[in-house]
Formats: sequence, C-alpha cells, structure tokens
Amino acid sequence: MARQELIDGLNKALNREVTTFLRYLLQGAQIKGAQWESVRQMYVEEVADEVGHAQYLAAKIVMLGGTPTLNPDLSAPPQDVSAMLKNDISEEHKDVAHYLHLAELADQDGLADLKMKMEEQAADEATHAETMQRLLG
Ligand SMILES: [Fe+2]
Ligand SMILES: [Fe+2]
Repeated sequence: MARQELIDGLNKALNREVTTFLRYLLQGAQIKGAQWESVRQMYVEEVADEVGHAQYLAAKIVMLGGTPTLNPDLSAPPQDVSAMLKNDISEEHKDVAHYLHLAELADQDGLADLKMKMEEQAADEATHAETMQRLLG
C-alpha cells in the first residue's frame, strides 16, 4: 500500500539523515591541519542542514500516521580527509536519488507539499555533494 511504502521510505531517509549528521559532527571535530580547515568548517556547518532535514522527516512521518524509528549507522568515519570527502559525495548522491523517489511517491499520494519538500531536500544534498567535490579538487 502506497502510504505505508511512503512512510517506510521517509523513515529510511530519517535514518540516513541522522547517520549523516552524526558522521559530519565527528568529522568536523576530528579534522586537523591548516590545509583542511575549509573542509572542517564545511562539516561543522552542514550538521545543522542535515538536522533540519531529519526534523522535517520525523514530524512528517508522525503527521502521516507513522512512527519515527531511529536505528542510525554508528560506524567510525574514515580518518583520511580525501576518503571522507569521497565517501560523503557518494552518500549525498544516494540521498538525492532517494529523495527524488520519495517525491514521486508523495506525488502519487497527492501530497504536493511533501513532493516539493523532497525535491528541495534532493537539491540541498546535490549542493552538498558539489561543495565537497570542489573541496576535493
Ligand atoms: Fe540531508
Ligand atoms: Fe547532505
């Protein structure tokens, strides 16, 4: 049933966001060295964006009659800064694809506001990936 598929997809996105902001929080704390200072700042600043995405998703799951269920991936992030950036670019691209899928499901369910918000969050993640690509060189 479409509504349950949508709620499950939103819960998956919520867990990806919580996993992401925990990882960015750690990476923003962990990076040292003047040559990587702009990367450290980027992680510090992006935590708030990802928290905002997670807050929106959790509230929307409740309003659609679901339950937000947290089970984030707590594995340790890479130590090497280039490896961090490559990993996060790849994860941000996965988020873009998942949000575009959720936008389609929301559209099929007649939820225009959610469709637009999922497209907006897809655009945010695409911008994050592009920022990281710029920093990676
Ligand atoms: Fe996000
Ligand atoms: Fe992101």
